[in-house]
Amino acid sequence: MTVREILKMGDPRLLRVAQPVAEFNTPELHALVHDMFDTMHAANGAGLAAPQIGVDLQVVIFGFKSNTRYPDAPQVPETVLINPVLTPVGEAMEDGWEGCLSVPGLRGVVPRHARLHYEGFDQFGNRIVRDAEEFHARVVQHEVDHLLGILYPMRIRDFSKFGYTSVLFPDLDPNEDD
Ligand code: NI
Repeated sequence: MTVREILKMGDPRLLRVAQPVAEFNTPELHALVHDMFDTMHAANGAGLAAPQIGVDLQVVIFGFKSNTRYPDAPQVPETVLINPVLTPVGEAMEDGWEGCLSVPGLRGVVPRHARLHYEGFDQFGNRIVRDAEEFHARVVQHEVDHLLGILYPMRIRDFSKFGYTSVLFPDLDPNEDD
């Protein structure tokens, strides 16, 4: 188990469309998922996508009971989601603040689908089928964007709501680097 280096915006590996996972329940896939959880927890992240540690595969993880980087966020179930397919439910979009471990020190308001149906597999190959809304839906859309080579600043429409976390949210723990 290893805390891996998180790539930062500007690295071309964050802009690739990730490859689907072909084989489940392998030692390599389990090792990747372990490393991703170690890396996400070390950074107090709400989610992490394999491309953020330079791995070109459709694997994301997310979830927490409470998170110091998003103290007002409701709980999201701890999830490993592989080869995901997202389907928006309804037309409603919702604005909300996002940060990203690959874009440290900044936050921005991003419009996302308010309600979402998503499907995929866990690391054992078990099928995952869920409906999500609010922060859960936002986290899934943010992480799956990483698999498409999209970072949240590319989704910002109102750049007056994009800035340094330390200025926008001075009450957040200054030891959090995002
Ligand atoms: Ni991110």
